[in-house]
Amino acid sequence: MRFSGKTALITGAASGMGLLTSQLLHEEGAHVVMLDVNAEALKEQAGRIGCDSKTVDVRNYNEIEDAVAYARERYGSINITVSYAGGNASRVCKEGKPFYKMALESLDWGIDVNFRAPLYMARAVVGIMMEQKSGVIVNIGSIDGVTGGAGGADYSAEKAGLIGLTKSLGLLGAPYGFRSVCVSPGPVMTREAMKNMRTPMGRAAEVREVVDLVLYLCSDQAAFITGTNYIIDGGRACAGGLY
Ligand SMILES: NC(=O)c1ccc[n+]([C@@H]2O[C@H](COP(=O)([O-])OP(=O)(O)OC[C@H]3O[C@@H](n4cnc5c(N)ncnc54)[C@H](O)[C@@H]3O)[C@@H](O)[C@H]2O)c1
Repeated sequence: MRFSGKTALITGAASGMGLLTSQLLHEEGAHVVMLDVNAEALKEQAGRIGCDSKTVDVRNYNEIEDAVAYARERYGSINITVSYAGGNASRVCKEGKPFYKMALESLDWGIDVNFRAPLYMARAVVGIMMEQKSGVIVNIGSIDGVTGGAGGADYSAEKAGLIGLTKSLGLLGAPYGFRSVCVSPGPVMTREAMKNMRTPMGRAAEVREVVDLVLYLCSDQAAFITGTNYIIDGGRACAGGLY
């Protein structure tokens, strides 16, 4: 019960890593408010695992701020935020093209969800964490933000931006007792297609492998860790551009 009595806000919680993180935080005693733009899936999944939830489009600052206010009013504090909402715009917006051929709306979707939203989340909670003198802000990057990706300059730049955001939040939070970390996964089995992605280990990560790292970083066991990026990628980054 590492998270007993803590309040966690998880974006992108209706699916994939956000969903499993919500479930495991809840099982370890946290008050979890699951946030997602997909109202139907969110209601179904939050009901299934017994968590609180709120439909939020993370591209809208007011909706994030309202969710933070709701959680704080209801549970008294904001201890953990994890920004999972996101994805590669080329895939999510069904473009299937390199960034230089994608519609501007798709590029903007990626910037808004992958980069602007975690910045918004940080803006909404740092004042509270400063006051509390505690808290953890987790940003979910990608191995592409570390290695770059020729056709995926948009996604790579957005995820690399989260490493800079995390460093800055680490510096900002250190004297106040709140922390920030970034986790940059290689391919993760949140969908079947990921099993075709190559890594030196010859497989993609199980969802649980990444979520366990996130939970560790959110816990007091990681009290001395801040402002840093954790790569979890089966060796892909150290193989350079070969994978
Ligand atoms: N799956 C991978 O292989 C992998 C690898 C590296 C990084 N990542 C990153 O991890 C994160 C989670 O990935 P996943 O595969 O678990 O995701 P997923 O696609 O299973 O879930 C993403 C969730 O975000 C929600 N979402 C999308 N737009 C939103 C918005 N505007 N407001 C609120 N919610 C919104 C979706 O409805 C969905 O429930 C993403 O940021 C992704 O870029 C994933």
